[in-house]
Amino acid sequence: MTRTVYVNGDYLPETEATVSIFDRGFLMGDAVYEVTSVLGGKLLDYAGHEARLARSLSELEMTNPVSAEDLLEVHRQLVIRNGIENGLIYLQISRGNAGDRSFVFPDASVPGTVVLFTQSVPDLETTPASQKGIKVISFDDLRWGRRDIKTVQLLWPSMAKMAAKKAGCEDAFFVKDGMVTEGSSSNAYIVKGNRIITRPLSNDILHGITRATLLKYAAETQYEIEERAFTIEEAQNADEAFVTGASTFITPVVEVDGKAVGTGAPGPVAQRLRELYIAEGKKAAI
Ligand code: PDD
Repeated sequence: MTRTVYVNGDYLPETEATVSIFDRGFLMGDAVYEVTSVLGGKLLDYAGHEARLARSLSELEMTNPVSAEDLLEVHRQLVIRNGIENGLIYLQISRGNAGDRSFVFPDASVPGTVVLFTQSVPDLETTPASQKGIKVISFDDLRWGRRDIKTVQLLWPSMAKMAAKKAGCEDAFFVKDGMVTEGSSSNAYIVKGNRIITRPLSNDILHGITRATLLKYAAETQYEIEERAFTIEEAQNADEAFVTGASTFITPVVEVDGKAVGTGAPGPVAQRLRELYIAEGKKAAI
């Protein structure tokens, strides 16, 4: 099926959607993005994604050419026009087409390029990864120092995913100064007893929207939350490990660098948190 996508105010078949070769997203990686999940045709955690988009843009001195109200309507239209029941919406805003290549930002009168498209994932609630868990490798975190800004500069995370694939694994835990920062496209956690341990927010990690919501729900249950960094060895010896993200929700990690975590199967805490996140997320979805 040909998707309907959104480019700068127009809804177009994906085969007719184009962006200039001078677009700074293409030439300089000068763009930010968001991924919002859709369950039952509704948007999960939308307010969080909208707020983080505004923060990413503001940190890079970019303006959003589309109002918040219109952007929500574009999300909804794409869900409707593409008949998305479960899936993802990808949004990207670049600094636009400056008409040439230059390191210097174009003036503020150059509008940003806004692109949105959908990805249908019918089994988003019950992906094989969520049922079986994933295996991860450790990978040196050589990304730039502003990982809190959600930019499209994803070459190192792609290299991490490829290294994981070559090792027969699904993902990587980035490690900086001996401590895990996060997953290649997710936040990382370990479980010890009733404690959920995850790295505190800083410029070292993306401030995950799923993370924020999960920690809020977890705090309302019997779990204690400890925001601190942990090592690969600690993850290997934890009761459980898991990752969170808009495309993965809560996904158990069953092996780290070849060593089984806990029993080597998805643990009860990750499973319970996933169920809680999906159930509450659906109730609050818009
Ligand atoms: N990635 N950390 C990194 C480096 C990420 O790329 C992501 C999300 C997260 C989790 O953030 P959130 O819970 O807001 O999705 C953490 C998205 C899903 C992606 O790049 O596809």
